[in-house]
Amino acid sequence: MDRFLIHGGNKLSGSVRVSGAKNAALPQIAAALLTPEPIVLKNVPELRDIDSMIQLLRHLGAEVKREGELLEIKAVELSCVDAPYDLVRKMRASVVVLGPLLARAGETRVSQPGGCAIGARPVDLHIAAMEHLGAEVRLEQGYIVAEARPLVGGEILFDKVTVTGTENAMMAAVLARGSTKLFNCAMEPEVIDLGRMLQKMGAEIEGLGTPSISIEGVKSLHGTEHSIIPDRIEAGTYAVAGLITGGEVEVTDCDPEIMRSVLDKLTNCGARVEVNQNSVTTRPSEIRSQDVQTAPYPGFPTDMQAQYIALMTQAQGSAVVTENIFENRFMHISELNRMGADIHVDGKSAVIRGPSRLTGVGVMATDLRASASLVLAALVAEGETVVNRVYHIDRGYSHIVRKLRALGAEIERISD
Ligand code: UD1
Repeated sequence: MDRFLIHGGNKLSGSVRVSGAKNAALPQIAAALLTPEPIVLKNVPELRDIDSMIQLLRHLGAEVKREGELLEIKAVELSCVDAPYDLVRKMRASVVVLGPLLARAGETRVSQPGGCAIGARPVDLHIAAMEHLGAEVRLEQGYIVAEARPLVGGEILFDKVTVTGTENAMMAAVLARGSTKLFNCAMEPEVIDLGRMLQKMGAEIEGLGTPSISIEGVKSLHGTEHSIIPDRIEAGTYAVAGLITGGEVEVTDCDPEIMRSVLDKLTNCGARVEVNQNSVTTRPSEIRSQDVQTAPYPGFPTDMQAQYIALMTQAQGSAVVTENIFENRFMHISELNRMGADIHVDGKSAVIRGPSRLTGVGVMATDLRASASLVLAALVAEGETVVNRVYHIDRGYSHIVRKLRALGAEIERISD
């Protein structure tokens, strides 16, 4: 298993280009199943999760051509409607094929994703949404078995805001008979980007970016071309890398508009952040502790919580970070404490006392964003940090070693 060796202490400086958003690309690749016509996606990040989704689409019979960040998908005919456990267990987001397969093929068997390192993460809301659209769903030997008889428009009120649940419901409703109304929808930019792509395919959707989305089912959808929005989490991670090392880092090709909660929080911490139309530049700053609570968009993203905690270990004062989206998403904390951080967990809150002098040790990456926080901490730690199990980071950070080295970090990948 690969690991990173990181020598901390260098101030990062220079420019780093942000890739396309993983969480926008994944459902859009699945949406290609909704039409037999070609779908061209641009700015698709080169990531392990994208590889997994491509593998799943090929398994379903789609033809997928990939050239760097360009993907062409043709799902002329589907050869099967099964998303098997072996493919789904690698990536929970594979569940986004549920809606498209049901809409296109009228039936599907998708493996239940099961438990996950960051909490239970059930799929009950996805299943309820399909049932409200007229599907018959049963759980059978670890599979969600769904049949559309046929899919008909309906009203769905999500008990909880769910990103992929909203996406699945949208992808099923666009080809359902009649009108669908979705309430308490996720307003994440990635959900809006999927909606825009579906609109280009001929879907009739209104209310994107609001809690209520209305969809008028159409008979068929056609091919289109779409460019994936920038990854706001990757952008935020590099902004934190600049601040934590006290360097000047320009994060380019991002969309500061969709990073507002993170940029506002960093500014409240005393960070000097210059925001331009498509870039964000961090300058050396005295960082003060600030509390934060994670929340669905437009709130502070849970996917930036771990990186923010790494920053708070270097801030003046105490910060309380509350995780409201996932239970058990504090696994980076024991590793950060082993590096010398002073963090106590009390239920769903973590209290971080800073600044701490961090030292390099061997640490274990446990999930995608936890790994990012360990890399950030390693960039300021004294001596050498070994981050083990970096396959987690490969799921969501495109070319991270190359990008950090270009900014002056001492980081290398060791493969066994
Ligand atoms: C998506 C993102 C992930 C991000 C998360 C929250 C993708 C591919 N992944 O994950 O990076 O951290 O949103 O912003 O876009 N829930 C249920 N039942 C369900 C579905 C969800 O109880 O059927 C709960 C979850 O356990 C969690 C909350 O709802 O507590 C929000 O989860 P959700 O928005 O669904 O996360 P994902 O879509 O899996």
